Amino acid sequence: MDIEKFIRKIPKAELHLHIEGSFQPELMFEIAQRNRINIKYKSVEELRKAYQFNCLQDFLDIYYTGAGVLQTEQDFYDLTMAYFCECEKENILFAEIMFDPQTHTKRGIAFATVIQGIQQAREDSKEKLGIDSLLIMSYLRHLSEADAFETLEQSLPYKHLIHSVGLDSSEKGNPPSKFRRVFEASAKEGYKVVAHAGEEGDASYVWEAINELEIARIDHGNNSLKDEKLIAEIIKRDLALTVCPLSNLELQVVKDLTSHPIRTMLQKGLKATVNSDDPAYFGGYLTENFLQIQKALELTKDEIVTLVKNGFQYSFAEDTLKRAYLEKVDDFVENFTE
Ligand code: HPA
Ligand code: ZN
Repeated sequence: MDIEKFIRKIPKAELHLHIEGSFQPELMFEIAQRNRINIKYKSVEELRKAYQFNCLQDFLDIYYTGAGVLQTEQDFYDLTMAYFCECEKENILFAEIMFDPQTHTKRGIAFATVIQGIQQAREDSKEKLGIDSLLIMSYLRHLSEADAFETLEQSLPYKHLIHSVGLDSSEKGNPPSKFRRVFEASAKEGYKVVAHAGEEGDASYVWEAINELEIARIDHGNNSLKDEKLIAEIIKRDLALTVCPLSNLELQVVKDLTSHPIRTMLQKGLKATVNSDDPAYFGGYLTENFLQIQKALELTKDEIVTLVKNGFQYSFAEDTLKRAYLEKVDDFVENFTE
């Protein structure tokens, strides 16, 4: 059984991808040049060398700096289209894309510029590549509640283009409860809600995200494993975890991939999915995440299929689309030959 070929070819969904985290150094330099912005690194190689992170904050500092060269609708289009082109290569049929409007509006870029660029790429990728997607607007948790409310307000003219809201950035010291009211208001506007929780924060952050934000899915969620009651509650509520193996490795959430908890999650009955988080910074897109975690844990073909199917099953795709995707996976598994 050629597991590598199997992983490369199987139809996949991605549920946890920050579009700003898919910004490859080559494109970053190209866009910086056309916008006449100076990057403090002299070359792509020098920039890549700086990608050594001891924790989430190390990464975020460089991630926000990189996103700082994005200025025009075309820039956001190019960034998003580059990700969709990679999806096509990797047989990713469905992608839920997070974007951080505040990273840009804080620099004086209009909300409209950001969303219109991303939206045009979504439409083109659907038409030309057959890839479906939806958008998750993430609030930056290191900023204030008032800031998040302002972002919610700015999003309302584009509500038809945005499916969900999320919560990302520096977790420790910025618990979900800080955003309870803005999540409640977002839900009232019709947005589904998700949140990063339990990546660096302890299990109490996951409890808060569940109880106070009433999230429909947990981004990361690794530290849930430290609390058996919490595990039972997550299973009871049927909440999936969007797990990001290479991100966990690079941000030192896990010591090495052989000690990654994804198999334990499955064994305990948690609905884990595999995702890339910030592929330009963490050493690989979705397929690479699958390949490396398979190798490290010697995941079986059945475990891979479970993880892939969880990705579609726990996506926010409409039911008919979801069923069609799951059938495609079944067909693929049945007919796979080496
Ligand atoms: N965690 C929190 N915030 C983020 C991440 C992450 O992994 N990636 C981009 N913003
Ligand atoms: Zn993330």
